[in-house]
Amino acid sequence: MKKLKTVSDIDELADLLAEARSTGKSVGLVPTMGALHKGHLSLVSCCNAGNKVTIVSIFVNPEQFNDPEDLESYPSNLDRDLQMLREADCDIVFVPSVKTIYPVPDMREFDFGPLDKIMEGRFRPGHFTGVARVVSRLFEIIKPDRAYFGEKDFQQLAVIRKMTGMLQLPVEIKACPTVRESDGLAMSSRNVLLSSGQRKNAVLIGQTLRAAAQKKGMAVWELKKWVADTINENPFLDLEYFEIVDSKDLQPAADGERVKQGLTGCIAVRVGNVRLIDNVFFYNFEAL
Ligand code: PAF
Repeated sequence: MKKLKTVSDIDELADLLAEARSTGKSVGLVPTMGALHKGHLSLVSCCNAGNKVTIVSIFVNPEQFNDPEDLESYPSNLDRDLQMLREADCDIVFVPSVKTIYPVPDMREFDFGPLDKIMEGRFRPGHFTGVARVVSRLFEIIKPDRAYFGEKDFQQLAVIRKMTGMLQLPVEIKACPTVRESDGLAMSSRNVLLSSGQRKNAVLIGQTLRAAAQKKGMAVWELKKWVADTINENPFLDLEYFEIVDSKDLQPAADGERVKQGLTGCIAVRVGNVRLIDNVFFYNFEAL
């Protein structure tokens, strides 16, 4: 097992990275907000496989929370995270303060075109500006060769790719598949906030997506309605959106179009106060 170095200071981190780079070692970054789970660990393992040095950042980024209550209740357990990272053979964990990431207020705005006008961007105004601010700042501080993100946050991945291209940052963005609990619920730091009743019913989200991926030949509007009705029939669940989008540019498919390969179904569901997202690639339901 490697010895995990915990760093919160930029200069100390720069020294560690300069040492690694002087011997030609590649550096991979896994940005997180802590409250780690097996989904994060799969990113760490992809990062270990592709790089000589793996850095995980843990920073609950206030800029990306449009709802103060969501920020307040966001789970955190640093000791447990550090233990998990030790066992996952991570090299460095970067745990900066808000002042370290934002020494002066970050006022940058990004023009993502239509990409952030739908789904998460529509229901969480300002969210992707906050994500772009923190991720670009982490890239600037760490200058990783590669950075690893989960496909569960499908729109976030597209926004980060766009931001990296717009700012011409020399970082390769790597996507890793969603990791699921044994019953199919997508792993999320927010899952620990669910009561046992909510947790049991939240399984319907993954199940509904899986069933939707098996309903070949339906029109987009028909499948959207079926998913909405199925989710909303359950008293624990409240659908925020289910959108069927082009997997590459994330633009919504026309209602009259047939659901086909190359489209992705993206869902956001409120389970009490907890908001969960998930997605399915049509037609690749084995992944669920
Ligand atoms: O996906 C997350 O956990 C966050 O949005 C990220 C990418 C770490 C930025 O804060």
